[in-house]
Amino acid sequence: MYQYILMSAAFSSAARTQGMKITIQELMRRKHSGPKIVMLTSYDYPTARLEDACGVDVQLIGDSVGTNVLGLADVSQVTVNDMVHHVKAVSRGVQRSFVLCDMPFHSFDTPDAALDNARRLIDAGADGVKMEGEAEALAQIGRVAGAGIAVCAHIGYTPQTNGAKASVQGKDIARAKELLTAARQLEEAGARMMVLELIPEMLAAEITRRAGIPTIGIGAGRFCDGQVQVIYDIAGMSERVYRHAKAYGNLAGEMSRIISSYAGDVQAGTFPAESNVSKIPDDVLRQVQVWLAKQP
Ligand code: KIV
Repeated sequence: MYQYILMSAAFSSAARTQGMKITIQELMRRKHSGPKIVMLTSYDYPTARLEDACGVDVQLIGDSVGTNVLGLADVSQVTVNDMVHHVKAVSRGVQRSFVLCDMPFHSFDTPDAALDNARRLIDAGADGVKMEGEAEALAQIGRVAGAGIAVCAHIGYTPQTNGAKASVQGKDIARAKELLTAARQLEEAGARMMVLELIPEMLAAEITRRAGIPTIGIGAGRFCDGQVQVIYDIAGMSERVYRHAKAYGNLAGEMSRIISSYAGDVQAGTFPAESNVSKIPDDVLRQVQVWLAKQP
């Protein structure tokens, strides 16, 4: 069944894209020619294969792996080693998607550290890296982009520094000006894409209209050049559904049903059934019994 889903999804996406690996140049072209860029977080090999087959353009190994997969209280404790582990798994499952990897908190405190750590993530299989921040990230983004690595900036609400409590950014004139200025400066520094997180729709539209690089929104309205979501939010695996997200199913409910059914079958002795077992030839079984009978 799984194989069938992969094959049919692969067929429809291949028909759309001829199965070509997505490059940063292709993503930048899409700002002008469309269609909108589909970005989705991805943390492991089986999900990466599904996202690839379903035509996700950019698989983001977000540092949200910390809260979504590793059970951490917030993303600030995620390390470069954690990201390397997950980007390796995702890149093994990807043929077509662009693989974008978050640089975790404190991994780009200086331009030198940014470049060293970005290279580790690229060596592990990423096609590009994402860094959160505004003025404080300019030098780091400049250094990494200058070394030929595709960089995605990330402004607005930035979980690494704004803390776990999310809040919409840019509702007052001072902050709106800061965001417009940061977007321009980050592009000038060499960013090739920009995530806009929790920004009012019309401000995100203005940033998008002025930017020469694609903007990817999360909670930033309908007029960005693409959208990004957390896979567990759209799959119905998260504890709550956020205003900026939409659950397209109830994977948590379905997984609970599957796990409970398995547990029930084991307890009732109905799993494994005869169809799940392997048989020893009768003559070998007889020999085993004879041998056992002779044992002290
Ligand atoms: O880490 C993450 O999942 C992200 C997205 C929310 C953009 O940065």
